[in-house]
Amino acid sequence: MKKIAVLPGDGIGPEVIGQARKALETVADKHDIELKFSCHAIGACSIDKYGVPITEETIKACLNADAVLLGAIGDPKYDNDPSAKIRPEQGLLTLRKELGLYANIRPVRCSDFMVDKTPLKPEMLKGVDLVIYRELIGGIYFGKKEKSDDFASDLCKYHDFEIDRIAKQAFITAQQRRKKLTLVDKANVLETSRLWRSRIQEMSKDFPDVQVDYLYVDNAAMQLIINPAQFDVILTENMFGDILSDEASVLAGSLGLLPSASIGTATSLFEPSHGSYPQVANLDKANPAATILSAAMLLDHLGYPDAGTDIREAVDWCIQHQFTTEDINDTNPVSCGMMGDMVAVRISEEEHVQPNKVNRETFYI
Ligand code: IPM
Ligand code: MG
Repeated sequence: MKKIAVLPGDGIGPEVIGQARKALETVADKHDIELKFSCHAIGACSIDKYGVPITEETIKACLNADAVLLGAIGDPKYDNDPSAKIRPEQGLLTLRKELGLYANIRPVRCSDFMVDKTPLKPEMLKGVDLVIYRELIGGIYFGKKEKSDDFASDLCKYHDFEIDRIAKQAFITAQQRRKKLTLVDKANVLETSRLWRSRIQEMSKDFPDVQVDYLYVDNAAMQLIINPAQFDVILTENMFGDILSDEASVLAGSLGLLPSASIGTATSLFEPSHGSYPQVANLDKANPAATILSAAMLLDHLGYPDAGTDIREAVDWCIQHQFTTEDINDTNPVSCGMMGDMVAVRISEEEHVQPNKVNRETFYI
């Protein structure tokens, strides 16, 4: 039996988590996997209820679980108040630190069925299949913060061991993929970047079969748009990874398709790369795919890759047959719940569902 701590969070979080649970329960049934879910508060909803963005109870439950599945965090009521002392995002940052989640892994693929749905030219997107390894518990996010009336400072620092542990994971992944690793930094300006570069140069000696490239972050931002297929594994520090992963999501067609896994020293955490998207919260319009695909990464991590593959296949099938939400389907979108239902139906069918027999309103066959 595997214990899953579920943290729906804010905005569209509860809706997309609902669909991911549906997929997990269906695939668990099919593969005889026993999953036990427990639900806990984080983010703005935790502030509203308990006065803090994350409680000890939530942290303990995550530490005691085999994996954590998180929805999204953030509420606009905190966004435009620079003086707010308590913020929903602190819940996520605290949890990342408590769980030691040093490696955030964000795969970006452009499916053949999405090439004409992105704002980029279709020919640019052929063969795009990359993965971002973003350092998650160091750098400017976690350095000393100082503030007075007319001054503020966020310190960016890295120790060699913080670089080495994620770099090793990224090299191993590159070895299993197309054997190319790109370190993104700003080594022409920043000391921390120069430390990253020297550690990666050193480590590359242990991985002679991996070709290593070095790109400044400003150039990398441009290369991601003009020649995205050149990338295999991108390794970068916390803040650059945050920015580049949102940019890279455009290559997949929607931020709503991008899953992520955060791996570390304690329980690993799986969450969509998107935020709480309050504009469509409670409207049953959000794309649940990123969270459902994060659940597939969770299953891979727990040692059930076949179950993970079933989920990915079902999401691909929905995309192929346009059972998709309005972010990637402007002609005939389905709701968040309906897309989740379609994923579950496709997973559970012994004989695979035929798209031409599916009634979109009721999905009866
Ligand atoms: C992400 C998010 C978070 C981050 C926010 C919500 C704190 O943007 O996971 O990419 O900046 O890391
Ligand atoms: Mg981000």
